[in-house]
Amino acid sequence: ASEEEKTNEYLFKIVLVGDSAVGKSNLLARFARDEYYPNSKSTIGVEFQTQKVDVNGKEVKAQIWDTAGQERFRAVTSAYYRGAVGALLVYDISRRQTFESIGRWLNELQTHSDMNVVTILVGNKSDLRDAREVSTAEGKALAEAQGLFFMETSALDSSNVVSAFQTVVKEIY
Ligand code: GTP
Ligand code: MG
Repeated sequence: ASEEEKTNEYLFKIVLVGDSAVGKSNLLARFARDEYYPNSKSTIGVEFQTQKVDVNGKEVKAQIWDTAGQERFRAVTSAYYRGAVGALLVYDISRRQTFESIGRWLNELQTHSDMNVVTILVGNKSDLRDAREVSTAEGKALAEAQGLFFMETSALDSSNVVSAFQTVVKEIY
């Protein structure tokens, strides 16, 4: 194979999914650029970033796609999911409603993508300890019931952000 083919072999499409304002864009900003936006606006349409991920000393490229949680800002759903091999299903631990939406997002993901998309359930904003509305045990239980990986993250203080993406990439690879 040519060098280019070798590179493409390890380009994995990963999608971010979840309600508006759970922190999808900030997880991506933290992971890809180590940046954080305290006052970020809703995503409009689709954005993506390619980021190198180290898997057991080997360099893998992840192309991470991000879109709006709000229906009216979303791009064509089927195109968003097409070719995805990994997914981060994100909720906000300080807003129960976003956790209750997970079933619907999982359903949409399964409808529009391959059966074997490696998926991690992500409870973001773990820094908001005093405002927590979803326990770690509940998140874990849902992940186990649905056969998903699970992690709590904070785009604000960086905790587990790299690990969450790495978990998905490792499993794909
Ligand atoms: P949509 O694009 O509308 O779907 O939203 P989103 O899921 O991309 O959310 P976004 O990343 O724009 O974050 C929404 C708000 O939550 C912003 O004010 C962020 O600063 C804040 N936020 C994101 N991640 C965290 C986090 O880990 N902790 C805290 N405390 N706030 C966060
Ligand atoms: Mg966004």
